Order: sequence, then C-alpha cells, then structure tokens
Amino acid sequence: MSAPWTAKIILAPMSKGSNLPFRRLCTAFGAQATMSEMVFATALAKGSRRDLALMRKHPDEKLFGAQILAAQPDAAVQAALQAQEMGADWVDLNAGCPIREALSKGCGARLLERPQHLRAICAALASSVDIPVTVKLRSGPRANKLNYLETSALAEEAGVSAIALHGRDREQRYTGCADWDVVKRTVDARSIPVIGNGDILTWYEAEDRIKQSGAYGIMIGRGALIKPWLFQELQEGRDLNPTPEERIEIYLRLAAYMLEHFGDDERGCRTAHSFLTWHGDFFCRYRYLPESEYHGQSRQHPLIQTRSDMPSPDEKPLDFVLAVQKSAIHAKIAQMLIDGVKEKSTPAELAAKIGSLKDECAELLKPRQAPDSVPATSEDTP
Ligand SMILES: Cc1cc2nc3c(=O)[nH]c(=O)nc-3n(C[C@H](O)[C@H](O)[C@H](O)COP(=O)(O)O)c2cc1C
Repeated sequence: MSAPWTAKIILAPMSKGSNLPFRRLCTAFGAQATMSEMVFATALAKGSRRDLALMRKHPDEKLFGAQILAAQPDAAVQAALQAQEMGADWVDLNAGCPIREALSKGCGARLLERPQHLRAICAALASSVDIPVTVKLRSGPRANKLNYLETSALAEEAGVSAIALHGRDREQRYTGCADWDVVKRTVDARSIPVIGNGDILTWYEAEDRIKQSGAYGIMIGRGALIKPWLFQELQEGRDLNPTPEERIEIYLRLAAYMLEHFGDDERGCRTAHSFLTWHGDFFCRYRYLPESEYHGQSRQHPLIQTRSDMPSPDEKPLDFVLAVQKSAIHAKIAQMLIDGVKEKSTPAELAAKIGSLKDECAELLKPRQAPDSVPATSEDTP
C-alpha cells in the first residue's frame, strides 16, 4: 500500500506543455502539484537522456509526479524506481493516452481494455516504490464500454494512493464534454481520493465540478496552458483579469525560466523559441470570462469548448496582437520575449514592441476570414 495522497489542485501531465519552466510558472501561481510529460518506460530502459530529462524536478516544485507509460509490470517498476531516484514525489501510470504510438505498444488507454493487467501493473508499482503511486484513467475504451468502476476498483485494490479520472472515453479524445457524473460515480464507489479532470477553464467551473462530483481534487490541463494564473483564481475563488502588459510580464517570466532551463546559448534559445511559440498557440485563446456574466453559460456548456472569436482590429494594438491565432505571430512574439530576457527589457518596453505587430497581424488575417484551426487540443498533436 503506498503513502496517502494530499494535493488538491494539480497541473495535468501534458506532452510538451508540462515542460519544467511552465511547471515552475504554474507552481508560482498556486498549483499544489505538477506532473511530468508522459515518459515511455521502454525509452528510459534504453537510457534515453531526453526522456530521463523529462523527469527532472525543479526545487520550486513542492510535489512533482513522474508519469510513465508502460505495458508490463517489470518495465513500469524499473521506470518508477528511476523516477524515485531522481526525486519524484510520486509516480503516475498513464492509462488514458489514446495516441497510436502508445496503443501499438500496449500502453496508455490500451490498459483500459485489460483491467486485470492494469491491476497487475498498479500492484507491482505500489509494492516496489516508497513514494505514492497514482493512475490516470479515462472513463473507458469506448462509449459502449465505460468500465471506469471496474478499472478504478482494481487500481484501488492494487494499492494506488489516488486515481485521476478524465471523464471521456479513449475514442472521444477531446470531442464532446468531459462527463463529471462519471467522476461522481467513481468518488461514490471508491475510498481513496479521486481527482477529477476535464474542461475546467474558470474557478467557478472548478467549484461547480467539485460540488457536483465530490472529487477530492482537480487536475487542470488546457485551462492552465491558456491562463497559468488560473491556479491563483482557484485558490482565491475570484476572477483575475491581468492587463495585456501584466500578461506580457507573465510570458516574460516563462521565457526567463526557459532560458535558465535550456540555456541562453544558440541551442537553448532555439529550444526556448520552439516552446514559447507552442505556448503562444494557447495563450492567444485567453478571453476574460467574468463569473457575473459567464457562470450561467458555463452550466450549459464548458467554456473551454467555446471557440474564441477573431479579435477585432478596433481593439487596442496590444489586445489585438495577443489574441491573434497565428503561429507566425507567436513565433515573432517568442523571439521578442527571448530578446527581452537577454536585454533585460521591461514589460512596458516589450508591450510596445509586441503592439507594433498590429498591422502585420491585420494583414495576415485579411485573405482568410476564418482563424487557424484551434490549437493543439488533442493528445496526439501536442
Ligand atoms: C497538449 C496536451 C498534451 C497532453 N499530454 C498528456 C500526457 O502526456 N499524459 C496524459 O496522461 N495526458 C495528457 N494529456 C491530457 C491531459 O492530461 C488532460 O487529461 C486533458 O487535457 C483533459 O483535461 P483539460 O480539459 O483540463 O485539458 C495532454 C493534453 C494536452 C492538451
């Protein structure tokens, strides 16, 4: 039986998104626990330094979980021991990833089709490491096989400390809405903490979902990518609406963490640039959704599922540029952030530079009236 579980507000594991600098930022905003990107146990066994690096924890992170993908108990245990040695505070078994690479190797959501095998991996983990073990489940492999009560019961029996549950089945990926009644039924049936996951973008949706399901805690993925200050909103139970200048200050902080982590030489800057451009595809989706105006609507449909409107060229230059959904612009902003860190620019100086991209943005938006497709919201397009 592994150790008891305590964290209630958790940053979800996200390939590319849960990079160490971004986890640091979320920790600063109040995430109580953070998780690594998923790591294949087989890659660790082959000594992949890249994969090993994904399990590195920053001293700011109070509770850090390493997430592993494994098809067999032995491989899972080897990877978990490595995570433990590297300082992970807990280890999570991924039993929800729907991407082909994971499924073809018998990992991720494939484990939902073999509940007894899932149990065996959980049991091997729980009896081999000294840190808590959790498992991240989806509601089932497909709509006509929602076996979350069975998989969660077997995981509990096997000795995991907590269960994270994303209320969608594997085939759904991100379509439809996350089903929090599934979370509620699991909470009612289990005696270990259940962490609910899916579609939380605002503090009031989090409160409603916790009330509805009785979940011990919540796990936030895309909501944090869009607004990392969501963790502070959750802690304080109120809307925050950082000004565009304040948002730039936050992005600048992330850029500084990136250069600190990846290095500020040419190679480090290239890596940071790629990550910051990727993050820009989520940052641009931020819209102020005050509780007084949007709470009712959120009860009909999760706000994260609502498409962001195109920004209007009548908006102030900075507001307009920050809302543009164009990767070419995000790449330019990423470079400005990196230069800003190196040159020790103030947020106000950077705001002026970024705002000056307005005409270019307007030009880019002209020929096609439709925005780029919604940025990566699927586990196979991180
Ligand atoms: C870019 C991206 C990458 C993801 N990578 C992982 C992963 O490595 N492991 C995992 O268990 N889930 C992964 N997920 C799923 C999230 O952890 C989470 O279950 C899902 O996004 C639903 O939560 P949300 O609505 O708060 O985003 C990923 C999601 C996104 C958007």
